[in-house]
Amino acid sequence: MVRIGINLLGLNFENPLLLASGINDKVPEQWIRAHEEGAGGVVTKSIGIEPRDGYDNPTIVELPCGLINAMGLPNPGWRGFLEMVEGYTFDFPLIVSIFGGTPEEFAFLAEKLSDVADAFELNLSCPHAKGYGMEIGQKPENVYEVVKAVKDATDRPVVAKLTPNIDDITKLGLAAEKAGADAVSAINTLKAIAIDVYAKRPVLSNRVGGYSGPGVKPVALRAVYDLAKALDIPVIGIGGITTWEDAVEFLLAGASALQIGTAVSLRGWGVFREISEGLRRYLRDEGFSSVEEIVGLALEE
Ligand code: SIN
Repeated sequence: MVRIGINLLGLNFENPLLLASGINDKVPEQWIRAHEEGAGGVVTKSIGIEPRDGYDNPTIVELPCGLINAMGLPNPGWRGFLEMVEGYTFDFPLIVSIFGGTPEEFAFLAEKLSDVADAFELNLSCPHAKGYGMEIGQKPENVYEVVKAVKDATDRPVVAKLTPNIDDITKLGLAAEKAGADAVSAINTLKAIAIDVYAKRPVLSNRVGGYSGPGVKPVALRAVYDLAKALDIPVIGIGGITTWEDAVEFLLAGASALQIGTAVSLRGWGVFREISEGLRRYLRDEGFSSVEEIVGLALEE
């Protein structure tokens, strides 16, 4: 008998696959759909203080091995978010992603949204939003301050989502851990650009965006491997996970859970079930009885 449910952040997930914060998770219907299609949990689109429309189109460009997106953090603001979720109950863990420009803004959001969030993911890593994301999260001291402020503001578990756009991601992970983070998630997208050869200008309205999908998988896997080696808190793996083999690689590299985003855009909602069934088969065929048994096996010397 193989058990693929996990306990992480004090929460029970039916399986280790979560819908990633990104481009398919703005409204409750998408979160519910993800769960119906086999996701063990959901991370929402990042929520800020004020409503934002996001950037003009085009906001996404498809490449042979993934996507570059610059949505511009569109969201209804914390008040609109509370209105949006009113009347819903979710029978899966809901991790609310938040972003702010200062530790105080992050803490304010955590306080306001604690009643509806099972946990928070801190967006310290969006690669293209002025004053937010990686502009803050590239500095370990900022990561420390933000995590600390949020931990002081809420008793919900806190996950710091880290940027790969830095020399050594473990510096950010160690800062998050020192500040009391319950886990880190990695990676957010790689800062990137695509150019239209006929228009002779960048494709995206914001010009620069974040690259995700199969093309970033080896980079993400290495980041997870390094973080899992360096940290005592759990690492949630994100970055190009598209097949069950990808999922197994991330678990072996030390990820305790996984987030899937771009694969939903490129392959459809069915990826959750496809990957969890493949993972279950792999565990059974290899003689394991739970996901936890394979976490970090590839870290052993
Ligand atoms: C966006 O909304 O533009 C993407 C958010 C992110 O990269 O964190």
